[in-house]
Amino acid sequence: MPKHHVEPFLTEEEVDKKIQEIGDRISRDYKGKNVHMICVLKGGAFFMCELAKRITVPVSLDFMYVSSYGSGTESSGNIKIVKDLDEPLDGKDVIIVEDIIDSGRTLSRLMELLSARNPKSLKLCTLLDKPDRRVVDVKVDYTCFEIPDEFVVGYGLDYDQMYRNLPYIGIVKFD
Ligand code: IMP
Ligand code: MG
Repeated sequence: MPKHHVEPFLTEEEVDKKIQEIGDRISRDYKGKNVHMICVLKGGAFFMCELAKRITVPVSLDFMYVSSYGSGTESSGNIKIVKDLDEPLDGKDVIIVEDIIDSGRTLSRLMELLSARNPKSLKLCTLLDKPDRRVVDVKVDYTCFEIPDEFVVGYGLDYDQMYRNLPYIGIVKFD
C-alpha cells in the first residue's frame, strides 16, 4: 500500500444527523407501507444498519454481494452476483442501500437486474454521491451527502479492505 494518511472529512455527528434526516424522510414517504431494504455488501452494511434503526415503518432486510470487474480501479457494467438475495422481490417496496455512487455503472446494472424481479417499487438510497464522476445516468432517490471527486474511506467504505470501521468519513491523501 503506498504511504498515505486519512484526513477527517465528515464527523460521526454530521453523518448521524444526516442519516436521521433521511430516515425521517423515508418513514414519511413509506407511511402505511413496509420497506424492504437491500444492502449492497460490504460497503453499504454500516449505513444500512444505522438507517434501518431510524425508520419507523416496518422494515425487512436482505443482502447482496456483487463484484463489478473492470480494469484496475474503474468499475465496468459487467457485474457478477457473488451472493444473491435470499428472498424474492415480487410486490415489495424495495430500497437499495449503497455506500457510494461513483461512475454509476454498478448501480445502473444492478437496478436493471432487480427491476426484472417485479418489485412493486424500486428506489435507491446512498450515503455518498460523487456526481462529477458519473458516466452512466442513475436516478438516486435519497442521498445523504454529495461529495467532491476524492477517495473516501470509513463508515463502511474501504481502501484495499481497510478503514471500513472508522466511525467517520475521511479522505485518503497520498504522502
Ligand atoms: P461505480 O459507481 O460502479 O463506479 O462503483 C461504485 C463502487 O466503487 C462503490 O460501491 C465502492 O465500492 C467503490 N468506490 C467508489 N468510490 C469510492 C471511494 O471514494 N472510496 C471507496 N470506495 C469507492
Ligand atoms: Mg460498494
